[in-house]
Amino acid sequence: MRRLFFALWPDDATRNALNRTGKWLHQHWGGRRMRADTLHLTLVFLGDLPAAQIDALLQGIQGIPIGAFELSLDQAGHWPHNRIGWLGLSQPSQALESLVQALRDQLRTLDIAFDARPHTPHITLLRKAQGGAALECLPVNWAVDGFVLVASNPQADGAHYDVLQTWRLATQ
Ligand code: 2AM
Repeated sequence: MRRLFFALWPDDATRNALNRTGKWLHQHWGGRRMRADTLHLTLVFLGDLPAAQIDALLQGIQGIPIGAFELSLDQAGHWPHNRIGWLGLSQPSQALESLVQALRDQLRTLDIAFDARPHTPHITLLRKAQGGAALECLPVNWAVDGFVLVASNPQADGAHYDVLQTWRLATQ
C-alpha cells in the first residue's frame, strides 16, 4: 500500500518563489512552514493504493489532452477549519480544471478510486496557522509543463514525498 496523489510539481525557480511567499505568509499568520522540498499543488488525491494497482496507474494514465499552460498564483488565504495557510488563484484556471477533469475521467476508466470532492486548487504553505487580516501578495507565475504521481511517506518532521512518475504536457 502507498498513499498517492497527482500533483503539479514546481521547477526550482517556482519552488524558490513559493518558498519566499511561505516565509512572508508565516511572518503574518504564524504556524509551521512547509519544507521547500514538499511544496506542490494537488490535482487528485487517491489515498492508499495496493501495489498491484500502482502499475496499472503508471501505465494507464496517458494521452492527457491538455497543453502546457501558465498559472498565476496570486491569492493568499487561510482556512480556519484546518488552519492551513495557502497560496491559490483569484481567478479559476480553465486549463487546470480541464487537467483535473481529464485525470478523473481516466481514473474512472481504470476503476481506481479517488477523492471526488470539488477540487480547490491551493498550495499549502503553512499548517497550524492562526490566520489574520486578508493580505495582498505578489503573484507567483508558474509555467506548467507536466504533472507527477507522488507517494507520501509520513515521518517525524512531516510527510516526505517521492515522485514516482512524471507526465509531460505538450508544448506548442
Ligand atoms: P492539503 O495540503 O490541503 O492537506 C498530500 O496529503 C496532498 O494531498 C496534500 O496536498 C493534501 O492537501 C492533499 N489532499 C487532498 N485531499 C486529501 C485528503 N482527503 N486527505 C489527505 N490529503 C489530501
